[in-house]
Formats: sequence, C-alpha cells, structure tokens
Amino acid sequence: MKALIIYDSAFGNTEQIALAMQNALAENNEVSAIRPGDFKPEMLNGLDLLIAGSPTQKFNPLKGISDLLNALPQKSLAGIKVAAFDTRIDIKKVNNKALNFFVYFFGYAAKPLAGKLVAKGGSPAASPEGFFVEGTNGPVSPGERERASIWAKSLVS
Ligand SMILES: Cc1cc2nc3c(=O)[nH]c(=O)nc-3n(C[C@H](O)[C@H](O)[C@H](O)COP(=O)(O)O)c2cc1C
Repeated sequence: MKALIIYDSAFGNTEQIALAMQNALAENNEVSAIRPGDFKPEMLNGLDLLIAGSPTQKFNPLKGISDLLNALPQKSLAGIKVAAFDTRIDIKKVNNKALNFFVYFFGYAAKPLAGKLVAKGGSPAASPEGFFVEGTNGPVSPGERERASIWAKSLVS
C-alpha cells in the first residue's frame, strides 16, 4: 500500500505524531511524510491512503495545510482512503468553563481537515482523531506517539 502523510506543525509536536505514524506504516507500506510546502500533485498518483494532520490553533487547522487541501482539484482524491488528525490540549486538564463552551461549539482541527479531504472525493478510513500535547509548545503527552502508531496501522488493516 502507498501512503502519504501531509502535516503542518508550529512547534514540532504534530511532526512527532506524523513521524510516529510514518514509522508504524513503514513496516509494511511505502509511506512518505511531508510538509504542505513539499507537496507535488504527482504524489497522488497510485496513492492508497492520504493522512492529513495539523495542530489545532483557534479551533482550526493551520492555514498552510488548509490552503493546500482547498486548492486540490475537484475529485482529485477519488479512490483514495483519507483520514485526518490533529494535536490539541486536553480540556480536562485546563478545566476552564469558557473554554469548554467554545470547544463544544468550535471543536478541533481534525474535523474540518477531514471535511476537506472528503470534499475532494476521498473515502473516509476513520473518524477524525486528536492526539494530546501537554501545553502550547508540547511536549506530546505520554503514550500518544504509541496511540498514533496504532491508529495509523488501523487505517491500512
Ligand atoms: C495561537 C494558538 C491557538 C491555539 N488554539 C488551540 C485550540 O483552540 N485548541 C487546542 O486544543 N489547542 C490550541 N492550541 C494549542 C495547540 O494545539 C498546540 O500548540 C499544538 O498542538 C502543538 O502542536 P505543534 O507543535 O505541532 O504546533 C493553540 C496554540 C496556539 C499557539
């Protein structure tokens, strides 16, 4: 199976999650992990699985990956399995009622990313998934790299 992970990252945490997924998939698949700026349209040729990932900032993905997915031609992901993930802060640890309210309405980056993938014709391979970081700069929360590896493998099984 040929897989591509496109990820954005401001402080390196989403990159660590993306690379954990790449490592996990590399055992049995041809897999690349790239930033939006390195994307080339021919990378979609013969692709079986596309994973998109971004940090959640202000409830949304970063502009770089959003713009890239928005700019893909219509139906360019037809026949490709797609899945989206984000990194986020665990609101249970923040324990702020106003934040709970906003998160309830506006959510996290993975859902709008997944919507963009499907809008370009991709077939959802899993629900949008979030992986926790301990704070704005990280680090990635304990066990999340391992959970990301398992999640990525579940997309190809
Ligand atoms: C400007 C800004 C806005 C943020 N907004 C949110 C948010 O709405 N929800 C959330 O869970 N985390 C939020 N965060 C925390 C980020 O999710 C966290 O910095 C990110 O997961 C780290 O990943 P990265 O190292 O790949 O950038 C925000 C961080 C910044 C800098």
